[in-house]
Amino acid sequence: MLQPHVLSVCHVLELVLCLSAAEDFDWTKNHRGSFYYGTFPTGFSWGVGSSAYQTEGAWDKDGKGMSIWDVFTHKKGKVIYNETGDSSCEGYYKVKDDIALLKELKLNHYRFSISWPRIMPTGIKSDHVNEKGIKYYDDLINLLLENKITPIVTLYHWDLPQVLQERYGGWQNLSMINYFNDYANLCFERFGNRVKYWITFNNPWSIAVEGYETGEHAPGMKLRGSGPYKAAHYIIKAHAKVWHTYDNQWRSKQKGMVGISLNGDWGEPVDITSQKDIEAAERYIQFYLGWFATPIFNGDYPQVMKDYIGRKSAQQGLGTSRLPTFSSQEKSYIKGTCDFLGIGHFTTRYITQKNFPASHGPSYFTDRDLAELVDPRWPDPGSEWLYSVPWGFRRLLNFVKIQYGNPMIYVTENGVSEKMTCTELCDDWRMQYFKEYINEMLKAIKDGVNVKGYTAWSLLDKFEWDEGYSERFGLYYVDFRNKNKPRYPKASVQYYKRIISSNGFPNQKEAENWHRKAIETCSSSNQLLAAEQQRTTAANILRLIHDPLTSHMEMVTEIVVPTVCTLCILLSAIFLMFLLRRHN
Ligand code: BGC
Repeated sequence: MLQPHVLSVCHVLELVLCLSAAEDFDWTKNHRGSFYYGTFPTGFSWGVGSSAYQTEGAWDKDGKGMSIWDVFTHKKGKVIYNETGDSSCEGYYKVKDDIALLKELKLNHYRFSISWPRIMPTGIKSDHVNEKGIKYYDDLINLLLENKITPIVTLYHWDLPQVLQERYGGWQNLSMINYFNDYANLCFERFGNRVKYWITFNNPWSIAVEGYETGEHAPGMKLRGSGPYKAAHYIIKAHAKVWHTYDNQWRSKQKGMVGISLNGDWGEPVDITSQKDIEAAERYIQFYLGWFATPIFNGDYPQVMKDYIGRKSAQQGLGTSRLPTFSSQEKSYIKGTCDFLGIGHFTTRYITQKNFPASHGPSYFTDRDLAELVDPRWPDPGSEWLYSVPWGFRRLLNFVKIQYGNPMIYVTENGVSEKMTCTELCDDWRMQYFKEYINEMLKAIKDGVNVKGYTAWSLLDKFEWDEGYSERFGLYYVDFRNKNKPRYPKASVQYYKRIISSNGFPNQKEAENWHRKAIETCSSSNQLLAAEQQRTTAANILRLIHDPLTSHMEMVTEIVVPTVCTLCILLSAIFLMFLLRRHN
């Protein structure tokens, strides 16, 4: 028998080992390895995503109330070219067409969001429930299930009812927690017999930082260094409340799960041997993903946020930290309120330490004391912020595994945009992005990360918030100039379809073949699109001839741009055919 003191030494050692295993991500190890040929675990779920405001259109139809995005986009100067989501992809009228696209991809799940003001026009249940809005989502859910596609439903993808903004100041007000809970409860009541995967919030980081710090997003507030922390605080509490509501009232009957979808770019230390850079990179991640994940998994904000914001607040002469605090009851109420974690991930940054004196004034960005850098060799085909750095995805997933006790993960957003006037259906760079990011996810699963599903972002080109329609994330191209908003498959549809049907990457030869075949099909889709655009242009010319008040601007946007685009598409189709001939 071992002596008691020996036992206690073992016990302490075990505890130390356990604690360090639970908390330590090894920043110094970054073996990227080569492409991994292999398949995903059986039952892995493949999907695509969308969100209500970005795709539905019908902003004022069938009793829908206004959201903060309806109001924000109707103000001049908030969105590129003052574009709005008024009609967007007309998804509200195209449920059948869009489900046909999902079927074509042979997907397992579809992630979409419910527009709160569509089903509760003022956001307040006792005011009015809009049955026409409920019917729209009922039909969508039923049709998905008839086609054996699992709905993954987001309750809040940024479109807060405007009344709640006007009356209470939106997420700056505690009362949002109860209003959101009432809304979620109604969704569980009306849809929960069929929906088994619920996501409370999509990317709360954006809601807080872009909505209340920079004001680039609705509601456009610039409450630097305090607004975002307050918004996040109420969002975290609202999430926890909704999770408890489901747990207490619905779980035993409906047997579903409630999670949250958090976004996080990866932050890699510029110098992997510098302790300061490692700490800065960790701060970057803690202020991003950790801000929300740490309370939800561990009960409180990351220590580093408490330290940095607390110190800067004191230096700025404030009596209390700009970061709110949770009471001990709140901590235990919030901890563990996540049946699965949604991860949205697009890109990576290099991070180095950089001090910002407190005299710069309060700001989320300077609170972190770091600088973000990018490698100029990283491909950046689309959005300014989106560099393709696939290995960052595996690093992030491993970080989540280690920090939060290997939770069940669904990747809820991953994809890439293009920024071109003349859209190319042969989206080589997107196929490359998906291939490499999905492969890094496969490596992460081999590392032991518990990823159960993947959602490509997004099904369609759509309204990209303050970027309007200038950035296209879709697997399907949408012709926004045509009133019918027709959808055309890009090459990545074929490519993603092959990954899905093979449940991964069986071998090099096949994966290369997929790429070649996808390029072949897209050149004929290009021709189809060009022909359709010619017809639209001709119809527009006829319409304009009959309308003497037509402005010069309309001529430019409705005739010149489409004509140039059509020519571009035709030329690229001819060029591709030429290349393919030479190749064969
Ligand atoms: C948002 C999406 C958006 C994407 C690209 C994500 O964080 O949730 O709605 O389309 O970023 O901008």
